[in-house]
Amino acid sequence: MKALRPEFEAALHQALDQFETPFYAYDLPAIQQRTCQLRDLFAGGKLLYALKANPRLRLLGALRALGLGAEAVSVGEVGRAYAAGFPPSEVLLSGPVKTPATLRHLQETGLPILAADSVADLERIADQCPGAAVLVRINPDLPVSTHGHLATGQGESQFGILEEDLRRALQSARGLRVLGLQLHAGSLLGTADLLRAYQRAGEIAERHGPFRVLDLGGGFGPEADLERVATSALKLTEELGAELWVEPGRSVTAAFGVLVTRCWGIKRTRRRYLLLDAGMTELIRPMLYGAEHPVLPLYSGGELEHFDLAGPACERGDVLAREALLPTPRVGDALAILEVGAYGASMSSSYLDHPRPLELGFDGQGFEIWRRPEEFSALWAGEAQATAPAAQDSQRR
Ligand SMILES: Cc1ncc(COP(=O)(O)O)c(C=O)c1O
Repeated sequence: MKALRPEFEAALHQALDQFETPFYAYDLPAIQQRTCQLRDLFAGGKLLYALKANPRLRLLGALRALGLGAEAVSVGEVGRAYAAGFPPSEVLLSGPVKTPATLRHLQETGLPILAADSVADLERIADQCPGAAVLVRINPDLPVSTHGHLATGQGESQFGILEEDLRRALQSARGLRVLGLQLHAGSLLGTADLLRAYQRAGEIAERHGPFRVLDLGGGFGPEADLERVATSALKLTEELGAELWVEPGRSVTAAFGVLVTRCWGIKRTRRRYLLLDAGMTELIRPMLYGAEHPVLPLYSGGELEHFDLAGPACERGDVLAREALLPTPRVGDALAILEVGAYGASMSSSYLDHPRPLELGFDGQGFEIWRRPEEFSALWAGEAQATAPAAQDSQRR
């Protein structure tokens, strides 16, 4: 069974006395230590943290203090990066579609570096933002062994520009400051996939360059040998005479966040379920990607049995884990779903009017509230209401 740092686990027990479940909790000192490790491995390169993994402002401030830049994929994320103190020159906006309204908004609030994802994107940026600093995203056209939803570097995906179209794309970038190329071959990648994609990016950069920057993206899976990956990325960019940029998301935060939930019943149908107060609206990864997250009981005793962990949504797929081996809990006992510090809370939704949950940050001593739970009233704020339904009914009669 996977374990947490003892001081973090002890603090979780205290938090359970203070806060209602479900809640996310993050181990900030562990994230900071991990960030320093990544910074050392990629020394000489630039780290742009992919906000989408976990965008809490408190976290962003800590990462900025460690010298990281930010990678955003929406106007909202750019605004969030600015709110956390990143200057526009340290923010990269990726993503496949930048509308005229997006570009207008960014010109008013501060133009980040733009990663152009198509010829249409480049033409629009050149037209609306002459002189803007851009990277051109390439599609390495490589199969990668990860979940199909995460295989962005495959030729079939909608991301990046294939090499055969790159010359035309670079021509349409006239008037822009093309810093270089961007690659993001996918997420949860292993060493072999990462190295193959880097090699392909290097070959493309050599044929179409020279470029000042080669951004090799994120995607470092937990099994990847990051020492090998970083050494090879640095060697490649040195040979090309380019600056190395990388965009880690998951590898910064995933291992250091938990979702704490309580069990409100045991139920047997043809399977054995624990009924939890957290589910797909808090954590969609099991349903969306078939992701498997370890489960740690925050209680003791009870016979060990296999349970499926069901959430409160009226959806057959609302199951956070299958066949988890756990001591039989009592009603009210708490569990921690592990390795949810990335793409956990950031992908949570208010489907079924479930408010997004509380998020707590552990600072080594105790917990600080990083984000309050969403208020019920916020769920319907901004909606139109019928003004006098009774009067309308009587007119119809
Ligand atoms: C362009 C880009 N960069 C970086 C990332 C971060 O990837 P990961 O969290 O797997 O490191 C993503 C994730 O989707 C991405 O789309």
